[in-house]
Amino acid sequence: VYKRQDLHSLIERRYSRRELFRVGSGVAVAGVLAACARSEAVRSGTRFAPVRPSGGDTVVVPDGYRADTVVRWGDPLFSAAPTLDSAAVMRGALLQPGAAAAQERQFGFNCDGIGIFPLAQDRLVLCVNNEFPSPVLMFPGWLEAARAGQLADYVAEYPECNLLMQAAVGVSNIELAREDGRWQLVTDSRYNRRITATTEMQFSGPAAEHALLGGSAGAAARGRGTFGNCAAGVTPWGTYLTAEENVQDYFGNGEDAPFEPKASELHSRFGYRRRRSAFGWEHSDPRFDLRRQPNEPFRFGWVVEIDPLNPNIPPRKLTALGRFRHEAATTVVAPDNRIVVYLGDDQAFEYLYKFVSAGRFNAEDPASNWSLLDEGTLYAARLDADGSGEWLPLLWSADGPLSPAAGFDSQADVLLNCRGAADILGATPLDRPEDVAVDPATGRVYLACTMNPARGEAPEGMAAARGIDTGVDAANPRPENRGGHIIEFHEADGDAGAQVFTWEILLVAGAAETDRLVALSDAPLGRDSVYFGGITDAAGLSSFANPDNLAVDSQGNLWIVTDGNQPDGNNGCFVCPLDGPMRGAVTQFMEGPIGAEICGCEFTADEQSLFLAVQHPGSGGTVTQPVSSWPDGPGRAARPRRREQSGLDEGVD
Ligand code: FEO
Ligand code: CA
Ligand code: CA
Repeated sequence: VYKRQDLHSLIERRYSRRELFRVGSGVAVAGVLAACARSEAVRSGTRFAPVRPSGGDTVVVPDGYRADTVVRWGDPLFSAAPTLDSAAVMRGALLQPGAAAAQERQFGFNCDGIGIFPLAQDRLVLCVNNEFPSPVLMFPGWLEAARAGQLADYVAEYPECNLLMQAAVGVSNIELAREDGRWQLVTDSRYNRRITATTEMQFSGPAAEHALLGGSAGAAARGRGTFGNCAAGVTPWGTYLTAEENVQDYFGNGEDAPFEPKASELHSRFGYRRRRSAFGWEHSDPRFDLRRQPNEPFRFGWVVEIDPLNPNIPPRKLTALGRFRHEAATTVVAPDNRIVVYLGDDQAFEYLYKFVSAGRFNAEDPASNWSLLDEGTLYAARLDADGSGEWLPLLWSADGPLSPAAGFDSQADVLLNCRGAADILGATPLDRPEDVAVDPATGRVYLACTMNPARGEAPEGMAAARGIDTGVDAANPRPENRGGHIIEFHEADGDAGAQVFTWEILLVAGAAETDRLVALSDAPLGRDSVYFGGITDAAGLSSFANPDNLAVDSQGNLWIVTDGNQPDGNNGCFVCPLDGPMRGAVTQFMEGPIGAEICGCEFTADEQSLFLAVQHPGSGGTVTQPVSSWPDGPGRAARPRRREQSGLDEGVD
């Protein structure tokens, strides 16, 4: 419930902090020195003329910048593999035998999270998530068969379609080299690798031997594949963390599945499909038929660690980081060298988590760091109305809140049911917590809550079953939250490993000009309220909605990419300063093609290049009736899920 007096204390903090910065910019005040020095640098905002969105079928960046397509779905990672022909896709080429084998050696579909691993000044390995397949954009007739309830027949006639989808998802690791400022794929690099829905996986951490994961049977028998790979993270020891998100969509026939009681409870809290899966894999592969393998979903919904420089090492699923619809895995080193991983759980009314390692990072001994993510404490966040908050430890004990009496027989049980544990501890349900970014200079943490139209409505579905309050509150301040918002967290003493924090709203997204631009003192917010860091003049602001992935650059600008219906034009990339009078002044840096969401959002170390993922251009169309032909042009199917790189010729400050 919204409490006006609580907001006032928030607002007072907001303004007293601003005042501090104003003084601090001229006087070196201990403790805010770094932020103040930086706020001078960003005082005038980023130096580009904002993109005016047009809704066109192209990628637009400001004058003085250049956008290059680096790699596309179906581009060969090895010279022996063919290039995917998007015109042939429209004629059913991906239904033909051999298409899946080719896809296993080609760049994957539907790019999302990105990790950058520098090899040299102009060489790097890029890890790119390939989140999910879109059969309607791959296979002629698939949609019609699905609508007619004849998908089983379709799969029987074209068994290649499921093999192709399983080969198209997961992760693509590629080496890139920069020549004349342009990044290009290094074909046949020893680092090029596809990880798919069938790749051998290992499990580590406290739940690795849990009976629902197959007990202590050999790892190869227990783990194959990764999918639903959404946002991502990079560890200080040079590994890639890929977050398995909407894994429930891959399994069908839950209605008739022989779930044992504990499995049934966990599936219900995570969500599962009673009838058809989203992709029809259950028609050809018993792993995805819940009637035949009711526990297979428990092998998914984890964060997976991949070593990009050692392609022969199997990926590891890190059970210590818990099982939920993982979005991000944003990793920082705490002052005492413990490792902290911030983790979103992307569904309406779910929670923000963080993992804090028991051991400490040792830069001198890389091998010793490999077990850091196997032992530690997982926390869920409670955001109190007065702007304070606490990290609630998800710890099993014989007589505490997470005990056998509550249905948890071990810490492994807790990790398999983080949502249920966080419910009991009183974590704060958020408006779809997605990606997390940490400002490297200040340690402040930014969370994108992408949207939640059910906020402020009477509880329905899972929210009703959980008995939660779906009303607006200080952390989710707008009813029927269609545009999403961004929350800023200040860990106590700037220590990522802290157990308490303060927080405030940074942005409530929407149409700057036509919605109601408010200060938070105007609370309670209405459905049409938007908040841009307290700026009350819409001139110069860019409208945006549905923040998804985030990044913070070295100059203290927050970069935001979007996934949803925009107030103007297509999804894009937006940026705002985090300090100074322009804090919250969002301007548009890039607009994507029709139907795409924009993902990734990772800078090279020199910040001359920003890698963006262009995911599902052409969504809303079909392979035979496309609504986008980007980037190959008219007469070609949209080649969904490509990555776009913007060459930042001018830098960003
Ligand atoms: Fe895959 Fe939450 O976006
Ligand atoms: Ca996302
Ligand atoms: Ca998304």
